[in-house]
Amino acid sequence: QERRRIARDLHDSTGQHLIAATLIASRIEKTLPAAAQPALRQLEDMLQQSIREVRTVSYLLHPPLLDEAGLGLALRHYIEGFLDRSSIAVELDISPSVERLAPDTELVLFHVVQEALTNISRHSKSPTAQIRLMRERATNGDAVVLTIEDAGKGMPGVRGVRQLIGQKNAPTRGVGLASMRERLQQIGGRLEIDSVVGRTTVRVVLPIREP
Ligand SMILES: Nc1ncnc2c1ncn2[C@@H]1O[C@H](COP(=O)(O)OP(=O)(O)O)[C@@H](O)[C@H]1O
Ligand SMILES: [Mg+2]
Repeated sequence: QERRRIARDLHDSTGQHLIAATLIASRIEKTLPAAAQPALRQLEDMLQQSIREVRTVSYLLHPPLLDEAGLGLALRHYIEGFLDRSSIAVELDISPSVERLAPDTELVLFHVVQEALTNISRHSKSPTAQIRLMRERATNGDAVVLTIEDAGKGMPGVRGVRQLIGQKNAPTRGVGLASMRERLQQIGGRLEIDSVVGRTTVRVVLPIREP
């Protein structure tokens, strides 16, 4: 798959070159006069930011582990990295009734978690996040249900009302949730947001097709 190759090249090649550049920058630190230090700091910050961006893009193109190990392990791995970067305590609870899902289903669910966690760290001020993945019986077949909850300040404009993203008045100023909604609709799922001050829940319901 093309996305996967690009993701791997970005991560393994561009990513490694950037890391090598930070090593060179820290090596010349001692040899530079004091006047050059602020610029060097800026250079290092720039490089760190580029490394983060390359990582994010490569993850977005194709999360490592997803094909090989499945959604559960890929999420665990992603959340470990997120814990290092964010200091938000993330709890992950995957019901044993959720087994391997179709590849496109796993990919979309992975991206929803990624988007929701990024939103929590960017917008919510929540110290915690809770992710649950379970299987639900419905009359017209089973569905997989993913919820991501935080204890933050709540989503402006959604106060107290359950809103289906996709309705005309849904809060989709950003592109993150809107594009998640679109991708879910393409494969028959839906995305709901329920938010009050102190608790925001993003919920995805997706009919299960066996892989
Ligand atoms: N967990 C959250 N807590 C509070 N506000 C949120 C949360 N998630 C999203 N939001 C709000 O909803 C908006 C839309 O989110 P999103 O579509 O991901 O766009 P973006 O993250 O690019 O701003 C955000 O700008 C933010 O104001
Ligand atoms: Mg976002």
